[in-house]
Amino acid sequence: MPGSAVLRKAFEGKWALVTGASAGIGEALAIELAAAGANLILTARRAERLETLARRLGSEHKIQTQVIPADLADPGAPQELFDATEGRGTAVDVLINNAGFGYYGEFVAGDQSWQRTMVDVNCAAVVDLTRLFLPRMTERKRGYIMIVASTAAYQPVAYMATYAATKAFDRMLAEALAEETARFGIRVSALCPGPTESEFGEVAGVRVGESRKFQSAAAVARIGLQGMVKGKTWVIPYGSGRAQVFMQRFVPRRMVTGAAERMFRPDSVKEALKK
Ligand SMILES: NC(=O)c1ccc[n+]([C@@H]2O[C@H](COP(=O)([O-])OP(=O)(O)OC[C@H]3O[C@@H](n4cnc5c(N)ncnc54)[C@H](OP(=O)(O)O)[C@@H]3O)[C@@H](O)[C@H]2O)c1
Repeated sequence: MPGSAVLRKAFEGKWALVTGASAGIGEALAIELAAAGANLILTARRAERLETLARRLGSEHKIQTQVIPADLADPGAPQELFDATEGRGTAVDVLINNAGFGYYGEFVAGDQSWQRTMVDVNCAAVVDLTRLFLPRMTERKRGYIMIVASTAAYQPVAYMATYAATKAFDRMLAEALAEETARFGIRVSALCPGPTESEFGEVAGVRVGESRKFQSAAAVARIGLQGMVKGKTWVIPYGSGRAQVFMQRFVPRRMVTGAAERMFRPDSVKEALKK
């Protein structure tokens, strides 16, 4: 069956909640889901962008849409999203935990609240949303949950220490829940992109993987959704990322963390080391 038919079979007529749908990978996931006939609940902080996307996808694909602006750093936001959807009788069969951001720089130099907010958005909100929506999925004995992690989830990354740790958390959570929920017919998958075209680098203060080729958000979204539907518990959407993660298993850990440190070392640290 061609990829688009696989996605249509899985998602047509279902409601999908996409976090971080106002840009990048989340927007691309929403576009793919709409093309597969899913109805969309779009959330992020930038309401205007969500409204524009919802209007466009609603008219292009004849799907229903709902826009719920929310700041996932707010601990009450997941419950508000649940109340506005499942709480009002909308069966959410697809939960896409995509919203997230990074920070580049020395751990001690970074804004303390920024680091903490990263944990709140990238981890705490993912746990809360998943814990809220999963019980209804298990009752209905169907559902898909994607958690967007990263290839940064496979090794510690100096100068993106908190970010990489949050993504390792996301990946571990997804892979464990995939095992726990398989008996209910639910598919949980960690999507682990590498450098992808989005606003991520601008927000994090770095063009991540500067020397490497960036994958389009559309390709990442399509490959991620297809992998999830096929029952893959983790998906690395590009070949060299898969090879890199495989090879790391055979190399001493310090070699891996040291290489990551050299790759991401900021100019300020290079200068300090010369003295
Ligand atoms: N791009 C990459 O190279 C890459 C690689 C690996 C993994 N990822 C992961 O992919 C996911 C999507 O990132 P992206 O690359 O698409 O970056 P992006 O273009 O910056 O998009 C991030 C999305 O998250 C939302 N978001 C951020 N903070 C939020 C908050 N406090 N509350 C609600 N929504 C929030 C943003 O919406 P608002 O600003 O409107 O709230 C935006 O829609 C992230 O989890 C990221 O860690 C990205």
